Amino acid sequence: MFKAFYAAIYDRISSGSERAGISEERRALLAQAAGATIEIGAGTGVNLSHFPPAVTRLCLVEPDPNMRKRLHRRADGQDDVEIVNARAEALPFPDGSFDTAVVTFTLCSVTDLDGALAEIARVLRPGGRLLFLEHVRDTDPKIARKQDHPVFLYSWMGCHPNRDTLAAISRAPFEVTTVRHGEVPKAARVERPMILGTAARCA
Ligand SMILES: C[S@@+](CC[C@H](N)C(=O)[O-])C[C@H]1O[C@@H](n2cnc3c(N)ncnc32)[C@H](O)[C@@H]1O
Repeated sequence: MFKAFYAAIYDRISSGSERAGISEERRALLAQAAGATIEIGAGTGVNLSHFPPAVTRLCLVEPDPNMRKRLHRRADGQDDVEIVNARAEALPFPDGSFDTAVVTFTLCSVTDLDGALAEIARVLRPGGRLLFLEHVRDTDPKIARKQDHPVFLYSWMGCHPNRDTLAAISRAPFEVTTVRHGEVPKAARVERPMILGTAARCA
């Protein structure tokens, strides 16, 4: 019930941050996607319009049926887009299927962060790239404590704002190649610290 409501209002509640800069960050990040590309936790399809022509196959993975309904609607008319019902922790693809993987504001939501990253690495070919844009744990311990105990709304949304996602990417078979630390504009304090960058799948 709440998940259906969340999916219905998702674009509206994130529109302030999108207009204040996140949409532009998405565009610049996704301009680096090329070849067979998988996006994990594609949500309502906010990234769809940002994938460049260099992407030869586009596979959007989304486990929530309410989100997926909107994703189908947004992708309508793009026959070459594959929409797959799966979780990051168990991707239904053979090893090395993709050249690029994309996660934007997804790794805060997966159940098993290390398991999801291992699985994303598995479906990427060696040297393939992970493009990431995520909100993360604050370096200020006072804010991090608040992120450890956010208001109930976050557990309803399935969001864990206290994750050190960059450390998790580095623990996985990835080499972080670029990273920028910033802030999600117009976001609640606990979900403001942001990382944006690329990592290469280790051989
Ligand atoms: C905050 S939304 C972000 C949506 C989109 N990536 C964006 O940038 O707007 C998080 C998304 O991750 C999805 N999600 C949650 N758990 C997941 C999992 N285990 N594997 C893959 N996606 C998951 C949710 O259904 C939701 O669509």
